[in-house]
Amino acid sequence: MANEEFSSFLDTSDEWIRSHTGIRFRHIAEPSIATSDLAFEACQKVLEKSKKHASDVDLVLVATATGDFLGFPSVACLVQERLGAKSAGAMDIAAGCTGFIYALETARSFILSGSARNVLVAGAEILSRIVNWQDRNTCVLFGDGAGAVLVSGDSADGERGILRSVLKADGSGARLLERTEGGTRFPFTDGVVDPVATYLRMDGRQVYNFAVKVVSEGIVGLMEENRLSLDDIAWIVPHQANVRIIEAAAKRSKIPMEKFFLNIDEYANTSAASIPIALSEMCSRNLLKPGDLILTFGFGAGLTYGGNIIRW
Ligand code: ACO
Repeated sequence: MANEEFSSFLDTSDEWIRSHTGIRFRHIAEPSIATSDLAFEACQKVLEKSKKHASDVDLVLVATATGDFLGFPSVACLVQERLGAKSAGAMDIAAGCTGFIYALETARSFILSGSARNVLVAGAEILSRIVNWQDRNTCVLFGDGAGAVLVSGDSADGERGILRSVLKADGSGARLLERTEGGTRFPFTDGVVDPVATYLRMDGRQVYNFAVKVVSEGIVGLMEENRLSLDDIAWIVPHQANVRIIEAAAKRSKIPMEKFFLNIDEYANTSAASIPIALSEMCSRNLLKPGDLILTFGFGAGLTYGGNIIRW
């Protein structure tokens, strides 16, 4: 869906959206498609690509804020069933847009503890179903999509894989980004359902300030803690929320913009799916070489933030 399409029902423009966010397009799921359909497809592709069978999978993790159903069943269980991953456990990870970062570290921890050998990790979202299409402050920012990876334990791989992660939260900003009604705090009340209160609501300015701070400080911190310099890192893959957040963070931390992989112009903000979609696109474009060090960094609802250092 192109920016221009909003002009027919909202007071906005391609120029505003592009100049304030870097977004030109977003992908919108067909009405018959739910989040687990996107996650399933991504997981199936990853199994094919890695020549693994569903029976090899010990755990399915899906990072999402837009499950097929409210609360339960999890998207991961629906995916596990469709894949036929009969011996796998399954759970969703709810960490907003940082969900994929949290899920990667969860997979790594399961593998290091010996509880799992192959963990499927997906980030999948259908944000177009939870935005208020009459609110120009939010609906132009989001899109739908999914991506997945297989995290496997293999001692022969040496230093390859997820080397280190940092997972952080700041619950004091919990209400800056929320779906106010329909949960246990403000449950649906018979006859008094205001659909608008169930949609995504965001204090954009405050989230922007939070994001610039944690991205600029977080990336530098992750490099310093691991004694890495910018020259060691092939790519920084940030959560794709707004190109202006990345530009401001890059300026603050004196990191050249060329270090960041950005595809927000095509997909907008796909929340927990944005980093795996970016990694997938980088793979297809042969941007990732074996041995490259990649730094991922996410931020979002919760508030949450964090990153992983990955040797590709
Ligand atoms: N078209 C036209 N005008 C708009 C639009 C739009 N789509 N959206 C907002 N405006 C208007 C506002 O109404 C406001 O008008 P006013 O001054 O008359 O009230 C004006 O533009 C400026 O509003 P600001 O909020 O100051 O605009 P800003 O430049 O800060 O950009 C934005 C807004 C893009 C939301 C920015 O604050 C932002 O990126 N915030 C972070 C959002 C984000 O990344 N969220 C997701 C992170 S977490 C997650 O991924 C779930």
